[in-house]
Amino acid sequence: MGRELGGMNVFFVMDDGSIVTPPLGGTILPGITRKSLIALAREEGITVDEKPYSFDEWKADAASGRLKEAFACGTAAVVAAIGTVKYPQGEFQIGGGETGPVTTRLRDALVGIQRGQSNDRHGWIHVIEGV
Ligand SMILES: Cc1ncc(COP(=O)(O)O)c(C=O)c1O
Repeated sequence: MGRELGGMNVFFVMDDGSIVTPPLGGTILPGITRKSLIALAREEGITVDEKPYSFDEWKADAASGRLKEAFACGTAAVVAAIGTVKYPQGEFQIGGGETGPVTTRLRDALVGIQRGQSNDRHGWIHVIEGV
């Protein structure tokens, strides 16, 4: 089962340091923020598994502590940590409800490139003349 959150893609940081994000090909939009974060994470040596991740797995992994961080991403908000998940039958917390270190690091890496503060090794920045 694939999941997105409203107009954003979603990422899960596991306790072994790997990241899971639902795969393209079904209902998941191939967001540019998703693609950029996967590239930045893999450059850091993080294993990124593009695989289905169900709501039941999410709930169970949050309860067991296997899930350390979760965040949503898209052009508008860039990266937004998910602290608490509320659903009709209840709610659960992830990582104590705080923004985790991997979430912060990936967000800073992407925002640094967007703002021209870090080296744009990928050639992602395009200067628009006359603006
Ligand atoms: C359904 C959906 N998923 C994900 C995204 C995020 O995509 P992007 O990173 O290209 O902004 C959007 C953005 O509008 C969206 O509408």
